[in-house]
Amino acid sequence: MTMILGIEDKYIFLVSGLIVSLLLSYKQLFILYNKYKKTTSAKASTKSSGKKSYSSSKDDPIPQPTPLMITPEQVANYDDRPWRPFRWPYHQTMSIFKLDVNHWLDMDKYYVHYIEEKKRIIHRYGDENIGWLPGSEDACLELMQFVKDHMLKRYPLLFSSEDNGIHVKNHLTGEILDFSEPLKEPPLIYVSKMAKEDFYLVKKNPEDDRHYLVAAVVPFPGGSFGIKHKLGKHLDVIHSEVPYYESKLKKSMERWFERMAPADLVERASWYISWDHKLLCNNVYALKEGEKVDSDVAPDQFNVRVERQTLRRLPKSQAIIFTNHPVFYSIDEMKDEPLIPSLIKKIIYEAPEGISKYKNFESFRDHIVKYLDGLIERQIELGLIKEDTPIKTLPSYPFAHFVDNKDVNYGWTNPTVKDPEKNNYIDVAKEEIRQDELREEMSKKTKSAEISEQV
Ligand code: HEM
Repeated sequence: MTMILGIEDKYIFLVSGLIVSLLLSYKQLFILYNKYKKTTSAKASTKSSGKKSYSSSKDDPIPQPTPLMITPEQVANYDDRPWRPFRWPYHQTMSIFKLDVNHWLDMDKYYVHYIEEKKRIIHRYGDENIGWLPGSEDACLELMQFVKDHMLKRYPLLFSSEDNGIHVKNHLTGEILDFSEPLKEPPLIYVSKMAKEDFYLVKKNPEDDRHYLVAAVVPFPGGSFGIKHKLGKHLDVIHSEVPYYESKLKKSMERWFERMAPADLVERASWYISWDHKLLCNNVYALKEGEKVDSDVAPDQFNVRVERQTLRRLPKSQAIIFTNHPVFYSIDEMKDEPLIPSLIKKIIYEAPEGISKYKNFESFRDHIVKYLDGLIERQIELGLIKEDTPIKTLPSYPFAHFVDNKDVNYGWTNPTVKDPEKNNYIDVAKEEIRQDELREEMSKKTKSAEISEQV
């Protein structure tokens, strides 16, 4: 037996073996050793592989992205990883996964639309969607540098650098960004011209050791909240409306933030349903309390909006960067993926009450239930599921079943969609924005007419 032990183990077991063997048989000693070996190696593997806790030491090197040689022409048809973050049973949990740095800032065919929409929203609504507090400048600059480096390293054919990185050309929008100092615009504007994600910067206040939102550029909140009201607030305040935050999330999140090192990158995804593709504020959150979806909205217009989120720590400023990136998937495009319609129906009717209210399921669920029943029936007829297939989280969670079959160079086109070319909502999305702008102008005109009448 001594042949298979490490040196330290050998001494511990020889000495204790001599004493204990007086009392135990050889067989019992062997069982005891195996138990000891199992616990020590489990502790070691958690620490070194980081698999269980994902936590690294603060000095571990920060992972660097590998180049993905996709061209601007390829991006026009490129689909991102197919998120399907539906869980059943559905409890509020952190549900974070280790993030491969290559996917920190992903690419897809809607990139240009997102960048244009960011520009429009920031121009139109200003500090409702962007802001930073004094003392956050170092973090904003460090983030800008991180985003720039990531885009240049990960997408060498989409971003190129001139004059040693002083100018960067974005080949998707055609814009050349000038990084010479003094900077021409605030760092968060540069970030918004390179990445399609929303960014939140969180810092620990040394006076009370708690985490506060110190800067953010969030053109795509999805619901109607102004970032200017959230700046300077503690994470507990920011999550005050989030169901079961106090009981299920708060403690684990605090623990996580406390030990998260710059080499620990994680991602998560949440989701809700709406019947539009608006990035600023979706129809489901524009309703007044108790209001329901209009009866003339076609059920196949409904989409799942996945909020794909990442977390990492910047090494110099120690700020925590939280990104959020909405991705829309129509229920129609997922209709031939086994169990998806069944899971959606189950969740919108049986999710815990707090979650159901937060996501406003009541405003539309009776409107789409027949449509979902039809899709479930269709899956049974096609043999994709059986009548009694248990409804539970997919084995491929949080992704679609086809996520592993794909080559990252060509994206993740959904193989169950008959006509992938048509699976692009860009024109519809643009029309939705135009209609919203018209409505806004109309209501402004009506208001000013009312005021001048009163005067
Ligand atoms: C592990 C870390 C985190 C977890 C588990 C988490 C979890 C959640 C959950 C469950 C929600 C409700 C929406 C949903 O269903 O997902 C939410 C909302 C939100 N989170 Fe977090 N979050 C985390 C970190 C952060 C950070 C660092 C920020 C940065 C400020 C942040 C900002 C927000 C905001 C602004 C909302 C929307 C709140 C509202 O509806 O008013 N989260 N978060």
